[in-house]
Amino acid sequence: MSQPDRLWINVTLFDGLTTAGQPMAVAVTKGLIERVCPMSELPAGERVAGEVIDAEGRLLTPGLVDCHTHLVFGGSRAGEFEARLEGKSYEDIARAGGGILSTVRATRAACEDELFAAALPRLEALMSEGVTTVEIKSGYGLTVEDELKMLRVARRLGCERPVQVVTTLLGAHALPPEYKDDADGYIELVCNRMIPAAAAEGLADAVDVFCEGIGFSVAQCQRVYAAAKQHGLAIKGHTEQLSNLGGSAAAARAGALSVDHIEYLDEAGVTALAEAGTVATLLPGAFYMLRETQVPPIALLRRHKVPMALATDANPGTSPIFSLRLMLNMACTLFRLTPLEALSGVTTHGAQALGLHQHTGRIAPGLRADFCLWNTSNPAELAYSVGLPTLAKRVFAGH
Ligand code: NIG
Ligand code: FE
Repeated sequence: MSQPDRLWINVTLFDGLTTAGQPMAVAVTKGLIERVCPMSELPAGERVAGEVIDAEGRLLTPGLVDCHTHLVFGGSRAGEFEARLEGKSYEDIARAGGGILSTVRATRAACEDELFAAALPRLEALMSEGVTTVEIKSGYGLTVEDELKMLRVARRLGCERPVQVVTTLLGAHALPPEYKDDADGYIELVCNRMIPAAAAEGLADAVDVFCEGIGFSVAQCQRVYAAAKQHGLAIKGHTEQLSNLGGSAAAARAGALSVDHIEYLDEAGVTALAEAGTVATLLPGAFYMLRETQVPPIALLRRHKVPMALATDANPGTSPIFSLRLMLNMACTLFRLTPLEALSGVTTHGAQALGLHQHTGRIAPGLRADFCLWNTSNPAELAYSVGLPTLAKRVFAGH
């Protein structure tokens, strides 16, 4: 057997689903995980071409995956936050032309360099807590050019930092003022111009929609899914966040990788996810910021064995929160996930929500060597404490 570039020894391993019951070793070659074995099975005198890293019993997890963010945007919505505290609802603000549309105005007014400069510290905040893969959506441009501009910024973020960026076209996020009273006309623009242009330029990996009373109908979302599939793009949905329209089941039947938010999902919807193999992505940051009371159907998701991913939903309106560690805590305190379920949500299941589970999100042979080494041996610590920097080392593709 060839000598690994790096050998991690005396590791307490969380592989993305479970913890190993004994000290483990992980060998890495050319940026990929070559071998994972108990220390007791490591051949005596194992030779290593490069470095041996002694974890001294500390916890090694997969690099974290934030599978749902809106990191690229212009402006701020602190004023809207204050208005909500005074009693205005998210939907009232949206219907009055604020909310998403106020970020659209600021994002349209910004050039690529400005959007990049604003997004970089947000990305760096996520990376500083161990994120090695992040999904970034468009959705604040709502014209062909402005949506492509956002996606270019997202791609550039991935080129300029050691992190994998997955991009998602969210043209069907809100109805822009130019199409007021013509939602079907706007959906036509999304299907016939935006999706083909994003696909032709290789700017989008997936297509997302906001299926909601203040977003788009199930039928309109289905048209978007059909166009995405025609262009070979994966699909996702913001569904059942504020009401139950049946958008999750429709997305699952169309082959969605994930449906996200899902506070109002019912058992028929959960069954549809289970049948389609669609991941349920939980976004406790938005639940918290909007002071929602309807909790996603966690017990049903467990019963039907639907994988649960967990993400920040980092965005200027409903979740101006750039901490995936905080989401671990909120998923446990607000949604009653176990710490290990939450941790699987930001590793294995987060990767699955992006269609990347063959490449990252687990510590297993053949996958990319994306790791976090933590200053603890107990995985529950990662969900338990907030604000303490417990990350000892972040490794992306072996480095
Ligand atoms: O994931 N629900 C729709 N979209 C975003 C919020 C966007 C915004 O308010 O700017 C979300 O919550
Ligand atoms: Fe979102």
